[in-house]
Amino acid sequence: MSRVTAQLAEVQAPLSAESLRADFPSLATRVHDKPLAYLDNAASTQRPQAVMDALTEYEVEMHANVHRGVHARSDKATAAFEGARERARAWLNAASGDELVFTRGATESINLVARCLDHRMDSGSEILLTGMEHHSNIVPWQQLCQRTGARLKVAPVLDSGALDLDAFRGLVTPGLGLIAVTHVSNAMGVINPVDDICRMARQAGVPVLIDGAQAAGHVPLDVQELGCDFYAFSGHKMYAPTGIGALYARAPWLDDLPPFLGGGEMILEVRFDGTTYNTPPHKFEAGTPNIAGAIALGAAMDYLAGHGLARLAALEHELLEYATGRLLDVPGLRIIGTASPKSAVISFVIDGIHPHDLGTVLDHEGVAIRAGHHCAMPLMDRFGLPGTARASFAFYNTLEEVDRLVSGIGTARKLFA
Ligand code: ALA
Repeated sequence: MSRVTAQLAEVQAPLSAESLRADFPSLATRVHDKPLAYLDNAASTQRPQAVMDALTEYEVEMHANVHRGVHARSDKATAAFEGARERARAWLNAASGDELVFTRGATESINLVARCLDHRMDSGSEILLTGMEHHSNIVPWQQLCQRTGARLKVAPVLDSGALDLDAFRGLVTPGLGLIAVTHVSNAMGVINPVDDICRMARQAGVPVLIDGAQAAGHVPLDVQELGCDFYAFSGHKMYAPTGIGALYARAPWLDDLPPFLGGGEMILEVRFDGTTYNTPPHKFEAGTPNIAGAIALGAAMDYLAGHGLARLAALEHELLEYATGRLLDVPGLRIIGTASPKSAVISFVIDGIHPHDLGTVLDHEGVAIRAGHHCAMPLMDRFGLPGTARASFAFYNTLEEVDRLVSGIGTARKLFA
């Protein structure tokens, strides 16, 4: 869908969760004989029928290997795969599809960058993270430090869950090797001021990687305007299947970085005395890629663009406001991450109830949430908590489902609190 068509979609009639739910067959299923209230969208979103149809169409009409065939099916698969790359380019407003590498997801995208930056790091190098990073944006950098002798610096998080921007600014020094920061905290939903962060980084001449796993299906993106060097995201958090995602890397980077994995597709010529590499993005896509996943990711982007991401985000914001108000009325409940702006994710703890017990009680009511450390153990340590309960919303959730969450919490309080 072109930008103009997407913009036209923005001015159509208001959307309702009820009408959108019809596009998601899994939402009509039952759990423990109760209607499913799926409030675990930060972990993974459900897929619309359009995405499943794109997968079936690919399997039936065009499955073959890409970039290799001299036959019609391979040509068709290649066109659809590269078409998906173009959709991902448009989704981020990257300058060229050559800046988009398909990966297994945000985790692999970050690992790719971390692995390929070794030659630019040494024992004098420092990498700046924040205290709210997902393990996927911590461990690859720790591993890089082990290989190269570089060191991590961590910008603190305020009691509200906001990044301490003044402290962060103080840590952005010209010699810094890289800044790696999440766009949206998966554990709290807090949205980081990535525009300000990229501006500070540019002024100091420091490259920036943004972990967009929790942002890409919820927040309009423009990597050129942002001016980031790398942007990583996953398909399964934006209504596409698992095992597909992408890394955006501003053009000079993919020329500069050495390949990540070796194998087919990433080469121009292989001899026993040496190999020359393909041009980006193929240089970073060794082996047969997840063709079906990429095509399905493109279909998910079409689905979101067709409804208008801003309109979908408005539905999510309404859920956030309603759920926050209702939860704050629950005695003994404390929200972790009260800063604004926020994505539709609410992390909370309740006096006397372990998050896992709460999750189990809610599950028996048909309400799916996540409980635990949310792959953000340093952030949990920051708040002195072993974990939280987390409800995370998508545009297809309803206010009635929020009521069911609150009612299930009431049941848990009777049992435990
Ligand atoms: N990163 C995923 C989450 O936040 C799994 O739940």
